Amino acid sequence: MSAERTTVVLADPSAVAEAAAQRLVERIQEATGTAAICLTGGSTPKKLYELLATPTWRARVPWARVHWFISDDRVVPHDDPLSNGAMARHAFLDACAAPGTVHLISTTLPPDDAAKAYQTALETFQQNHRTGDNLFDAVFLGVGPDGHVASLFPGSEALSERHRWVVGVAHANVAPFVPRVSLTLPCLSSTREMTVIVTGSGKRDILRRILSGEDLPAAHIKADAGETIWLLDDAAAPPEAL
Ligand code: 6PG
Repeated sequence: MSAERTTVVLADPSAVAEAAAQRLVERIQEATGTAAICLTGGSTPKKLYELLATPTWRARVPWARVHWFISDDRVVPHDDPLSNGAMARHAFLDACAAPGTVHLISTTLPPDDAAKAYQTALETFQQNHRTGDNLFDAVFLGVGPDGHVASLFPGSEALSERHRWVVGVAHANVAPFVPRVSLTLPCLSSTREMTVIVTGSGKRDILRRILSGEDLPAAHIKADAGETIWLLDDAAAPPEAL
């Protein structure tokens, strides 16, 4: 059963980044007390992250009460160019986030150990800062060329994980072919809003397959407690999305 979703098609990647930033700020402003944001990896969100560091958007975020997490990472050194955490840190977290609010995956540990450590970090955060049912106020995700989300690849047993929030992923189906650490579907769904950002003509075919109901990981993502919005640019949007 594919998850219900709202699809918005925008002119270009900059418009997608602006729309995603607006949703992020709104969810943070609506959060009572500490807000929890789960960032996505990959290259698509770079525009969004860099936008958050610009004066206009930086001024709109109450940084002291926002905690930042990430959907998945590659098992590489923390400052490796392949690191999702490093990309987010360099794009805005290092410059903007408040001390003690950035929770990234320890990618220098073996995948299963890193997953256990990140699960503990999430559980500790929830115990200390969250009162409602949802772990996150907003989750951002991209979609891989094979329809994967986070590091949950088609055919992976990690897709059927229903108890653990974080798992080690020994083999990646697509580049970079390094082990991964990924949040699981139940964890990613524990959010008041999910925003999926997809841009570029290279994603049109996989989007066509997802929107037509093919059983791919990206077809199963949804927010448990609110909207699931897909923000596409014109280049990525297949006719089915229009
Ligand atoms: C990863 C990402 C992954 C990403 C998609 C889209 O570690 O690779 O978390 O899920 O979001 O593969 O990647 P692009 O934005 O680079 O197309």
